[in-house]
Amino acid sequence: MTKKRPQDLRSARWFAPDDLRSFGHRSRAMQMGLSREDWEGKPVIAILNTWSEAQPCHMHFRDRAEFIKKGILQAGGMPMEIPTHSLSESFLKPTSMLYRNLAAMDVEEQLRAHPVDGAVLMGGCDKSTPALVMGAVSAGLPFLYMPAGPMLRGNFAGQALGSGTDGWKYWDERRAGTITDEQWHGVEGGIARSYGHCMTMGTASTMTAIAEALGLCLPGASSIPAPDAGHQRMAAACGRRAVEMVWEDLTPDKVLTEAAVRNAVTVAMATGCSTNAIIHLIAMARRAGIALTLADLDAIGRTTPVIANVRPSGQGYLMEDFYYAGGLRALMKELGDKLHLGAITVTGRPIGEGLDEAQNFNPDVIRPLSNPVYHEGSLAVLKGNLAPDGAVIKPAAMTPDFYSHTGPALVADSYDELKAIVDDEHHPMTPDTVLVLRNAGPQGGPGMPEWGMLPMPRALLKQGHRDMVRLSDARMSGTSYGACILHVAPEAYIGGPLALLKTGDSVTLDVPGRRLDMEVSAQEIAARRAAWTPPPPRYERGYGAMFARHVEQADKGCDFDFLRTDYGGPAPEPEI
Ligand code: FES
Ligand code: MG
Repeated sequence: MTKKRPQDLRSARWFAPDDLRSFGHRSRAMQMGLSREDWEGKPVIAILNTWSEAQPCHMHFRDRAEFIKKGILQAGGMPMEIPTHSLSESFLKPTSMLYRNLAAMDVEEQLRAHPVDGAVLMGGCDKSTPALVMGAVSAGLPFLYMPAGPMLRGNFAGQALGSGTDGWKYWDERRAGTITDEQWHGVEGGIARSYGHCMTMGTASTMTAIAEALGLCLPGASSIPAPDAGHQRMAAACGRRAVEMVWEDLTPDKVLTEAAVRNAVTVAMATGCSTNAIIHLIAMARRAGIALTLADLDAIGRTTPVIANVRPSGQGYLMEDFYYAGGLRALMKELGDKLHLGAITVTGRPIGEGLDEAQNFNPDVIRPLSNPVYHEGSLAVLKGNLAPDGAVIKPAAMTPDFYSHTGPALVADSYDELKAIVDDEHHPMTPDTVLVLRNAGPQGGPGMPEWGMLPMPRALLKQGHRDMVRLSDARMSGTSYGACILHVAPEAYIGGPLALLKTGDSVTLDVPGRRLDMEVSAQEIAARRAAWTPPPPRYERGYGAMFARHVEQADKGCDFDFLRTDYGGPAPEPEI
């Protein structure tokens, strides 16, 4: 490996020349109290910090940035902390997904425009991981990912509570009238007890596991709970390693290979991953120039069992338990040669190196392949006349009675309409009804909100039912569960066949056969299509208008078309 020379550093283009512009850069660095000794001959490492007071999951990032800086200085680099979009899953409306690509654009341009040689990305809350990775991959500088770590497990009345999952569960009990207000408030105060991302195997834990499996994290980093002192030590190690990566010129194209992407899919399936992961995996892979498809995901899913016994797929355990059981490295050891062990990570070494020493301390939490939580991977991809470009379901987190099901559709065109239906105890329906919400896709939502775990109708809840087949072009939270068919593509809002479904039509779900169909003749579908008129655009100006014009459908990862790697020539390096 040839080591980069100090004069070849990208940042030297800003700081080294004896000209007026560089004089400006140096004098402004000195304005911050820095001296030549701070930058001369040293890699400048951007710390892209997603700390924000609107981001509960990243509340520790001010502290962690200091540890990353310490590591960078130890290794002879110069840290440059730069704030970037935070993407709070809790507070952003209508949905953080509307802003994932905006954040990714911010990341890409921050790295391209600043005098930096490499980067440490700080993220963890749901969309922050794909946004940071997508942007940094497109920028092309050496980087590694510092995951936020899961928060402590929740606690209420001596019971462990899981993020999201237990919120939904207790809400159903409250609507059924089986818990008191006081108990409900106890759940509210106990479900999120520390900084860190959601501690179920929701989108956040799934995405950080995927980042590690892609080779973008230090080994084992993604499982360390946020409040653990080991997390601070990991942050410092990220800083040290980022400096070395610059000297080694370990750019993302050397890490994000096809083998790495396949490893990430395998690990995602084995963790019982969030359905959101599918969209983000496709988007990240495509930024690296790898055409990952829904069919690839389904194929890997069919041969990879779920072995992480963590809610919502598994029974009982949470990310803290997963860490004590050995974390992601122990899970990867169980997967063995299902992984491409030679894939190079940000360490510059193969991902399989040292995996023999990983230990599984609790085979009930991290199951051996011989005793899985679920015999296939977490997710299944469906196709049929309702979803010609695909739809997604999570068989591991639904009632098996619905794997093969036919029932009459009950269609809502908007969330308000749906709410009226589910709250009306006299609305005609049966446990066989297929509850449908449309116009909730990338353009219709807009931003494809996490409405896909459609609320159970009050009438069915009171009869004791806790699951039914639900169908939408929305996403659902990674902590959700149930027989929910999601991501129907193309979406209804742009005239996908879901737009043509009527209340009373028979819908057939066949999970083993991977089919989703409406029992309506092709002739009748054609007649309904001829009568269909497109709805007006949601936005006429601003970011929303740009989003609607450029966002791709769910099966393509919902990236903007102009951010695709193959869209025109590469962006030029800035003139200094
Ligand atoms: Fe941030 Fe769940 S709200 S990870
Ligand atoms: Mg979520």
